[in-house]
Amino acid sequence: MTEANSDSRDSKQGGGAASDDPTSPNSKYADVQDRESLMDGIQAGRRVVFMAYTLSTIVERQLDFVIAVLLKKYGRTELQTTIYSCLKEIVINATKANAKHVFFEEHKLNVAVPDEYQKGMKMIKEQLGEAWIEKYGSLAKAKGLRVSIEFDHEADGLRIWVFNDTELIPTDESRIREKLAEGMNYEDLLSFYMQMGDQAEGEGMGLVMNLLLLKGENINPALFRVGFADGKTMARIEIPFTDEFVSIRGDNPEGFRDRASIRVEFE
Ligand SMILES: Nc1ncnc2c1ncn2[C@@H]1O[C@H](COP(=O)(O)OP(=O)(O)O)[C@@H](O)[C@H]1O
Ligand SMILES: [Mg+2]
Repeated sequence: MTEANSDSRDSKQGGGAASDDPTSPNSKYADVQDRESLMDGIQAGRRVVFMAYTLSTIVERQLDFVIAVLLKKYGRTELQTTIYSCLKEIVINATKANAKHVFFEEHKLNVAVPDEYQKGMKMIKEQLGEAWIEKYGSLAKAKGLRVSIEFDHEADGLRIWVFNDTELIPTDESRIREKLAEGMNYEDLLSFYMQMGDQAEGEGMGLVMNLLLLKGENINPALFRVGFADGKTMARIEIPFTDEFVSIRGDNPEGFRDRASIRVEFE
């Protein structure tokens, strides 16, 4: 993805490439669902909430668009690729977790019993692919297991939450802790790739990559958290825009919560 210097590009438009500027009339996002109301809502300082079941192309574009509008509003468009990549990874993790939940249920395997968990995970590893995601993604949807994505923003920074409707099981929790600790150990993406060498298969690398992408933008990786509450799993990224930004883990965790929001639901 390229970072556009959209103003100069817009003015020279003669039916050429669409602009990366989400607010431009010939924006590449022109066909995004609820485009105007999302832009107005964000401009008015509202939170944005998406409800989805899978990461379809439509949802991907919608998320990319919302990030672009937010970053344009706060003058931080250079963060587009990093934030979008991190968000995509955690949304995929969330949909996979929901799908995994129904897989275990369907095979009557209990995640809390180590042998059964191992067996289930082995089966998933063997079957995992587009077809698996599609099958168990739709079963998760039929069960009403959703993924919600929430954006909250102000001049000092941006917060993004991703919730999935399944409880975090201890094995996954320790995997997450392990991955986050691992990510803290590398300086940057390059040193990570050097260490991984040929064994890198893309599996189990998402969270480490997220931390390193954030580090690459001088965003404290400790601002990326995964946790659980009320039967849901949550991943959260906080992106400070100014030194005044207060992390949710800091003094004023409730400050953001009660804003009016715009909601968009996806099938
Ligand atoms: N939303 C989530 N719910 C449950 N487990 C999760 C979630 N996100 C991450 N995990 C756990 O953390 C592990 C590592 O995630 P990640 O680094 O993205 O690698 P991968 O997705 O390739 O497994 C996952 O395999 C899973 O066990
Ligand atoms: Mg992942």
